[in-house]
Amino acid sequence: MTQAANPYLPEIATIIETVQETPTIKTFRVRLKNEKRMQAFSFKPGQVGQLSVFGTGESTFVINSSPTRLDFLQFSVMRSGENTAALHALEAGDELGVRAPLGNWFPYEQMKGKDIVFIGGGIGMAPLRTLLLFMLDNRKDYGKIRLLYGARSPEDMAFKYELPEWTSREDLDTVLTIDREAAGWEHKVGLIPNVLLEMEPAAANAVAITCGPPIMIKFTLQALKKLGFEDAQIITTLEKRMKCGVGICGRCNIGTKYVCIDGPVFSYAQLKELPNEL
Ligand SMILES: Cc1cc2nc3c(=O)[nH]c(=O)nc-3n(C[C@H](O)[C@H](O)[C@H](O)COP(=O)(O)OP(=O)(O)OC[C@H]3O[C@@H](n4cnc5c(N)ncnc54)[C@H](O)[C@@H]3O)c2cc1C
Ligand code: FES
Repeated sequence: MTQAANPYLPEIATIIETVQETPTIKTFRVRLKNEKRMQAFSFKPGQVGQLSVFGTGESTFVINSSPTRLDFLQFSVMRSGENTAALHALEAGDELGVRAPLGNWFPYEQMKGKDIVFIGGGIGMAPLRTLLLFMLDNRKDYGKIRLLYGARSPEDMAFKYELPEWTSREDLDTVLTIDREAAGWEHKVGLIPNVLLEMEPAAANAVAITCGPPIMIKFTLQALKKLGFEDAQIITTLEKRMKCGVGICGRCNIGTKYVCIDGPVFSYAQLKELPNEL
């Protein structure tokens, strides 16, 4: 199943569980109320959904659960304005509107047989999480998988409940970092681009996927270039604001591309061909 017949019409979903990940990020695990639609729901890693709070508004979030684990759809929401504040007020049992799946996805087929380097900062770990879980569930299809995940402080680290597994798996090389020393922190301290340079991932036959705040992305790109990664080997997601999500309203366009249908996933090589409107 893909979108509902009318792409503007949200489907009603029930929140089955919430997790307060950090002081500003709350995760929602939801199921479509229409059980037949839920059973038939499928998506690809990197696709997004529009979540609506009735009477408030609608905004875009990546589906950060994996298509290989469809008990529920997971969205993690950083509080930034009106709609995200209204979402944060919702709890298990409440209903919201969902339009999903929308947008393109990570080119996971073309990544088969390659080494993968995930570099996530803050809420930027959400789009990486869906692909990471998908790859771990299809582990033999991929080469060495490395994850560098950074946040400002231990409290700002999302998905804490998964970190013990990610750091202990033999088939996943995980490095966690925070910006400044903190009591009890047993992992790295340092900015993501610097830690990436220390990790020295090999560029040959590798793909780097990076998401995070613009300043982190800027210096991470420089670090990846130093390590020998070509533009086409670097993939990111664009968070240019979306409205209709289906290529009609023109809210998200950059030149001739629409982030909602040509993206949000782009290689750095593709981004360089777009007009400088970001
Ligand atoms: C493809 C895509 C995927 C996204 N995935 C996630 C996700 O998984 N988790 C998450 O927390 N957020 C994600 N976002 C960002 C999220 O959509 C916005 O934070 C949200 O729309 C803000 O809504 P609001 O009503 O609370 O804020 P508003 O009241 O609309 O705005 C509050 C502030 O945030 C700024 N803002 C709003 N939307 C954006 C945006 N898209 N990019 C940059 N600044 C913005 C506004 O300029 C303003 O300063 C994603 C956005 C896109 C386009
Ligand atoms: S959000 Fe309407 S065209 Fe992309």
